[in-house]
Amino acid sequence: MTPIEIRDVTLTYDTPGGKVPGVKDVSFNIDASEFLCIVGPSGCGKSTLLNMIAGFLAPASGEIRIGGKAVTGHGLDRGVVFQDFAQLFPWRTALGNVSFGLEMKGVPKAEREIIAREQLRLVKLEKFTNSFPHHLSGGMQQRVAIARALAYNPAVLLMDEPFAALDALTRDDMQRLLAEVWRETRKTVIYVTHNVAEAVYLADRVVVMTPHPGTVKAVIKIPLPRPRDPLSVEFVECQKELLQYLGHDASAGETEKQANGKLSA
Ligand SMILES: Nc1ncnc2c1ncn2[C@@H]1O[C@H](COP(=O)(O)OP(=O)(O)O)[C@@H](O)[C@H]1O
Ligand SMILES: [Mg+2]
Repeated sequence: MTPIEIRDVTLTYDTPGGKVPGVKDVSFNIDASEFLCIVGPSGCGKSTLLNMIAGFLAPASGEIRIGGKAVTGHGLDRGVVFQDFAQLFPWRTALGNVSFGLEMKGVPKAEREIIAREQLRLVKLEKFTNSFPHHLSGGMQQRVAIARALAYNPAVLLMDEPFAALDALTRDDMQRLLAEVWRETRKTVIYVTHNVAEAVYLADRVVVMTPHPGTVKAVIKIPLPRPRDPLSVEFVECQKELLQYLGHDASAGETEKQANGKLSA
């Protein structure tokens, strides 16, 4: 829906102990309706980058443009989903959480409810409309967070390791669900993960970052048709290619780490 340009973006954190680089000279583009994953080892700057695109942090130099307009802060054109289950309002029901952005936008109550119910249907939670977060599993809470981010119809969905705290089976279900949601909504998605298999399952293209201070090492196209089969030869080949860019020796055989598609960092 909306293309994004990231040009020579650098950010340094000022800490009491001195300056800590966040990311360095990062450049890449995201096409409208593209699903782009950012992978890289822990601490390379993935969250820093996503927070800049969200407008929560300002780059020290360089520029981020969304739909041709420079980002100067957060706006309702971007929905954000984080890893932490605590991102939901515990005192609001699923419906109340999803309605939140619409309330901020001044949408009347009846209309808010219709939209929120539709978003909860999209993430298959129509039966849990009136449940509070503490009565929902981790996977369900993340689905509420996705519905909430989509409710005010942002052009761009930004996701920072949204499924990293879930068990492996739930994570697989969530990845399938997200692929469906993306197919239905055609949002421009930027999805941060340190899980290579997840990136190969979800992405049109993958931005691979170097270790800290992170910059772009490679941008790799995932040419597989959808829905993708994580057990297919082609899928495993893509995974190996990504791991090689990340500096893992994929030819060394099936170590447990590689079989899980996970990076140590
Ligand atoms: N608020 C902060 N203050 C100081 N340094 C930070 C802060 N947030 C992140 N950093 C540092 O910036 C680098 C990138 O962090 P981050 O973007 O969180 O990486 P990632 O999400 O890839 O794990 C790391 O070295 C981290 O320690
Ligand atoms: Mg992070």
